[in-house]
Amino acid sequence: MDTSPRRVEHQQTDKGYVPVYTTAVVEQPWDGYSADDHATWSTLYRRQRELLVGRACREFLDAQDEMGMSEHMIPRFDQLNEVLGAATGWTLVGVEGLLPELDFFEHLANRRFPVTWWIRRPDQIDYIAEPDLFHDLFGHVPLLMNPVFADYMAAYGRGGVKAHAIGPEALQNLTRLYWYTVEFGLIDTAEGLRIYGAGIVSSKGESLYSLESGAPNRIGFDLERIMRTRYRIDTFQKTYFVIDSFEQLMAATEPDFTPLYARLAEQAHFPAGDVQDGDRVFQRGSGEGWADGGDV
Ligand code: PHE
Ligand code: FE
Repeated sequence: MDTSPRRVEHQQTDKGYVPVYTTAVVEQPWDGYSADDHATWSTLYRRQRELLVGRACREFLDAQDEMGMSEHMIPRFDQLNEVLGAATGWTLVGVEGLLPELDFFEHLANRRFPVTWWIRRPDQIDYIAEPDLFHDLFGHVPLLMNPVFADYMAAYGRGGVKAHAIGPEALQNLTRLYWYTVEFGLIDTAEGLRIYGAGIVSSKGESLYSLESGAPNRIGFDLERIMRTRYRIDTFQKTYFVIDSFEQLMAATEPDFTPLYARLAEQAHFPAGDVQDGDRVFQRGSGEGWADGGDV
């Protein structure tokens, strides 16, 4: 029996079939998780941890342990919040699913991270289109324990509120930054390239592909370059951007983006898979298996 309800409903509108956003913050209904829900967490947790040792950055793996996340059961937000609050002042809040952009930014600006409370069904272990508990909690939350990354996420929230007021193009530039760092970022370490992006660490296939495949480009982090680059939402990324450190990310995003947005509005966007002059290329991808079209 499927006891885990799906929270993001869809409805037919003049814009097509769109998700109905629910903005409310909800208490995590922990006692309501079924044995299947806990088993789904266990399966995914065990599988990803095994894969991510030597692939995810040390900060990510250490933080999961420090927070007391384990394969045994779905973590309780209130327990995680004690550790997280003491470390960096962040709080997890339960939500039903994706939030409208401005709500999301305001949560981040106030150091609240919205976590989808429900977990995917057993038949969705390998792929689910929308964020669920496993993506949000396993993927995003651990790095909030890192003081520099924690500050970056809050600054991003404030930047989001600002970009939202400026207009849709500014928002698109900022969203690309989130996509290519928070969701799909790689980091260069003394031991080699490692993953820190939540969209990668919560995916078995992309954890391997992002680091080991010859197909994608791996290119050094460059703020303007990223803000001009389209991305993929339905396939693995064609390009991953590599930071040297979280400090680099913080320093590069410190300046006021307002003049940057104005400048970028005059410039062409880059396809997801193209290498540009001036790129610091870690790997020029072969492009093998890439879908044509479909860049967002
Ligand atoms: N400095 C950015 C601005 O002025 C805000 C920001 C910080 C955005 C960190 C992303 C990450 O808009
Ligand atoms: Fe995410």
